[in-house]
Amino acid sequence: MQINLIDRDLYATAGPPHDQLAWLRANSPVHWHEGEPGFWAVTRYEDVVHVSRHSDLFSSSRKLALFDEMPEEQIALQRLMMLNQDPPEHTRRRSLVNRGFTPRTIGALEQHIRDICDDLLDKCSGEADFVTEVSAPLPLYVICELLGAPVADRDKLFSWSNRMIGSQDPDYSDSPEEGSDAAMEVYAYANQLAAQRRANPKNDIVTRLIQPNEHGETLDENEFDLFVLLLVVAGNETTRNAASGGMLAFFEHPDQWDRLVADPTLAKTAADEIVRWVSPVNLFRRTSTADQVLGGQQIKAEDKVVVFYSSANRDTTVFPDAEVFDIARDPNPHIGYGGGGAHFCLGNHLAKMELRILFEQLARRRPRLRQTGPARRLRSNFINGIKELPVTIG
Ligand code: HEM
Repeated sequence: MQINLIDRDLYATAGPPHDQLAWLRANSPVHWHEGEPGFWAVTRYEDVVHVSRHSDLFSSSRKLALFDEMPEEQIALQRLMMLNQDPPEHTRRRSLVNRGFTPRTIGALEQHIRDICDDLLDKCSGEADFVTEVSAPLPLYVICELLGAPVADRDKLFSWSNRMIGSQDPDYSDSPEEGSDAAMEVYAYANQLAAQRRANPKNDIVTRLIQPNEHGETLDENEFDLFVLLLVVAGNETTRNAASGGMLAFFEHPDQWDRLVADPTLAKTAADEIVRWVSPVNLFRRTSTADQVLGGQQIKAEDKVVVFYSSANRDTTVFPDAEVFDIARDPNPHIGYGGGGAHFCLGNHLAKMELRILFEQLARRRPRLRQTGPARRLRSNFINGIKELPVTIG
């Protein structure tokens, strides 16, 4: 079988190449993937978890966790972010930001998220684009709430986020430099926001994160700005595309939609099944720190190793009926939020809550939602994204 797991045009037309990934899991689970640079493609659940949990053997800091076809300036900025660091530097920063994302802190946002969903659903009717009307604004408004950003800044954040993540998609960006410029603008914006909160503290997560913890430690100014930049990308595009991809999955499996409409409390398990099924984050990259064996292959120090969550989440040794979209699946040990290591998704409680509330409200309030045209996919091998999903709201 011809293997190309990074061809962006392929993702733009058909989404993740599940046939190739299934072939690799069965025949070459740790596979040398030609390219510039070449890398080991890791496709089985067990191996993805192993790589994720051993940051001493598979570093996030030696090279970026993403493919680094980006301008130098953006690479330099990326290298400073928590996502691209290893313990102990990563551990210190992570423990400082964890306090903003505990189940309790996030749980307190439940009513607010319900109100946002209600508002969005109140506003849309008739023919609409689900992405523009529902799945894009929801996480964006939630991030603005976390940041204490004024409502007037939502459009700016929306455009920055699209330009960063869509830097390889001509609909969002004319050149990779645009993504880099957008990142610099968010970085400057975060700086202003922090200055305002220092001068005028509020009851939001930003204020909490710029204050010292119980040991008197805090993120320095630069670390804080970088964290906001990370949040804008990590918290927006992922949840947006989980919601869009989840909606598309329901259109493709109308029996599951009928099931949710009959019992909207299934939105709780559906929120996990959607993330398993869609795997909004397709992959992350690590660099091997030593000569070592993985999945029977001899890997050399400095080799690039790419874990494919989209593949691990369809591994039949863990999910016997992996090709079935089953919104009541329980247990559901998917690794759409990461394989459980140091970088495990900081926003997982928040994302789950947003998806649960959104799909519960959709099923209750918009049971006749229908797709009216083809979904248009993002040209990206990193985010499994949908740019447009025409619907009639009913
Ligand atoms: C990291 C997925 C939503 C913030 C990650 C990772 C994945 C992921 C796969 C990397 C895990 C690893 O390397 O082991 C997702 C998905 C989401 C989602 C699928 C939605 C369905 C969010 C939200 C936020 C967020 C809502 C914040 C508001 C982060 C941050 C990191 C991260 C800050 C980096 C953590 C670190 O380096 O320690 N996410 N995420 N994510 N996510 Fe999410």
